[in-house]
Amino acid sequence: MTQRTLVLLKPDAVRRSLVGEIVSRIERKAGWRITALEMRTLDRATLEQHYAEHVGRPFYEPLLEFMSSGPVVAMIVEGERVIEGMRALAGATDPIAAAPGSIRGDYGVIVRENLVHASDSEESAEREVKIFFPGRA
Ligand code: PPS
Repeated sequence: MTQRTLVLLKPDAVRRSLVGEIVSRIERKAGWRITALEMRTLDRATLEQHYAEHVGRPFYEPLLEFMSSGPVVAMIVEGERVIEGMRALAGATDPIAAAPGSIRGDYGVIVRENLVHASDSEESAEREVKIFFPGRA
């Protein structure tokens, strides 16, 4: 089942120079391909669209503040079961609970700075690709 997903390497990943390491883990998955990649600093309007489902949650404002605190790397990744697979590679939201071997499990400690975002469903992936790469919708 070939799919595509939207991946963000969050400001902490960029600040800590982990972009190469994370991109390399994605590229090593057999058959997965990065088909779009861009570094940019996100404005509030883009983040409000991206995180619309979380409005009102206690973590919403800290999340938006963090996600606009520096550049991110946005990517489209395509391949076999890539939506489920990227979520597994990212690991659980809380890095302390994330399995060793996952990106968050290996490099994260606090929930806000959890290094990576990956779409959680086909519907989310299509919605998020449109936000970050409108030309690829
Ligand atoms: S839920 O309830 O399952 O929908 O939420 P979850 O997927 O765990 O989290 C949604 C996004 O919010 C981020 N998050 C936080 N950011 C900052 N501070 C705190 N405390 C916090 N808790 C959760 C979490 O990383 C998710 O962001 P993305 O970009 O989707 O990974």
